[in-house]
Amino acid sequence: MTDKKTTGCPVMTTTAGAPITDNQNSLTAGARGPILMQDYQLIEKLAHQNRERIPERVVHAKGWGALGTFTVTHDISKYTRAKLFSEVGKKTDIIARFSTVAGELGAADAERDVRGFSVKFYTEEGNWDMVGNNTPVFFIRDPQKFPDFIHTQKRHPRTHLRSGTAMWDYWSQSPEALHQITILMSDRGIPPSPRFMNGYGSHTFSFINADNERFWVKFHFKTRQGHKFLTNAESNKVIGESRETYQEDLFGAIEGGDFPLWDLKVQIMPEEDAEKTPYNPFDLTKVWPHADYPLIDVGVMELNRNPDNYFAEIEQAAFSPSNIVPGIGFSPDKVLQARIFSYADAHRYRLGTHYEALPVNAPKCPVHHYHKDGPMRFFANNPNPDAYYEPNSFNGPAQAPEYAEPPLKISGDADRYNHRDGNDDYTQAGDLFRLFDDAQKERLFANIAAAMGGVPDFIVQKQLAHFSAADPAYGAGVAKALGVDIAVQAAE
Ligand code: HEM
Repeated sequence: MTDKKTTGCPVMTTTAGAPITDNQNSLTAGARGPILMQDYQLIEKLAHQNRERIPERVVHAKGWGALGTFTVTHDISKYTRAKLFSEVGKKTDIIARFSTVAGELGAADAERDVRGFSVKFYTEEGNWDMVGNNTPVFFIRDPQKFPDFIHTQKRHPRTHLRSGTAMWDYWSQSPEALHQITILMSDRGIPPSPRFMNGYGSHTFSFINADNERFWVKFHFKTRQGHKFLTNAESNKVIGESRETYQEDLFGAIEGGDFPLWDLKVQIMPEEDAEKTPYNPFDLTKVWPHADYPLIDVGVMELNRNPDNYFAEIEQAAFSPSNIVPGIGFSPDKVLQARIFSYADAHRYRLGTHYEALPVNAPKCPVHHYHKDGPMRFFANNPNPDAYYEPNSFNGPAQAPEYAEPPLKISGDADRYNHRDGNDDYTQAGDLFRLFDDAQKERLFANIAAAMGGVPDFIVQKQLAHFSAADPAYGAGVAKALGVDIAVQAAE
């Protein structure tokens, strides 16, 4: 139905395209009712409303996003054959979504939490999703620990409140979390808006070049807006005035033509170095020292368009670490391996079977697969409808072995290896602590003490031992801020 009414507005229709004659008055038997069952327009309206909500993301539910462009500024083609990096000046469309981890969809923006930093690059060889955080490390190094960790961040089953006791009980028994806790409780824990924070791929990924050589790589997005932070007191004040400060800031800046920029840089490690570093380069709780693996410039990301429909473009966006493109690959990082499964599984549940065909997720390159039916099957057949299985004799899409990665050498017996064995959980956390100036340290101590309010003493003591193992001054500073003595001298 495309006819115009005399007013010039398009004619309002049902979802099946039939004109709606009256959108204000239900169809009734007599002026007082009751309503007739045949008022299918009313039923359609109410039924659609009942289906307006989809499950929120199980983590990272509250988010803010925008669209933009990635432009290559430096040649890294000796490391990767990924087409998006093939020449200086090349531009790729992107969509970015930032988020907090623990809060629900209606959570206040300026709460202390890790921030998600997701970017979907619509490349000519498929979508590459960089699903990172504003921190270069994470709380765990074995994915077995993820669901329990998230349960400690969400609500207690009985009180339905968030529980500091659960958080610190878990962390105090997971010393590998110390590095990330130190970042979370530092000034980096509350950026005033996504514009003022970095993004990190966090995991080690791989690059494959045209000669089929593999390099290990870490991705860094450095904000050009500069780092800013809110103290606990400032964030309380901000939240008291508005719970939506990130949306206001990001949307407002882009709407006003002040487009935020991030420089993409990489750290590159030759494949064979992974055997030699004193730390496991696939351990997500560790950074690679910049002195050994300096940052290499790649390009710039600009966000320059607000979505026209938040739900369609941001809520329905599906970012997954499994979305890689030729020239970019995975690494043995165990947490990354689990995420390769987890996200697409979440999307099939949260959005539906054919979520990749939704406009925001659909690649901007040809897509040819043999997946068939299921909810939301709204994309066209392959051009030849006889080629609906594979292999076939009807010129259907065929595999392309020329894109294969070089084999990855794997060794060792299959077993459940203790991920704590041989891993140093304290040195890098202590190094970070020692980088802070006195004022930063004082804020760190105060933030931790505030987060530990009400936590039982035996848990506090266990955690103090970890802080002290990273640096005695770290443990002493937190103990003083808490007004307690350190009872246990060595971390368990
Ligand atoms: C969202 C699982 C670790 C960053 C999600 C979602 C799941 C998930 C199921 C919701 C996806 C959706 O509904 O769209 C996991 C598991 C992990 C893990 C199982 C570890 C075993 C991490 C790590 C990072 C990260 C290490 C960052 C380095 C994110 C981000 C989002 C997210 C940024 C939001 C994506 C968006 O903007 O839509 N995660 N996660 N996660 N996760 Fe993870």
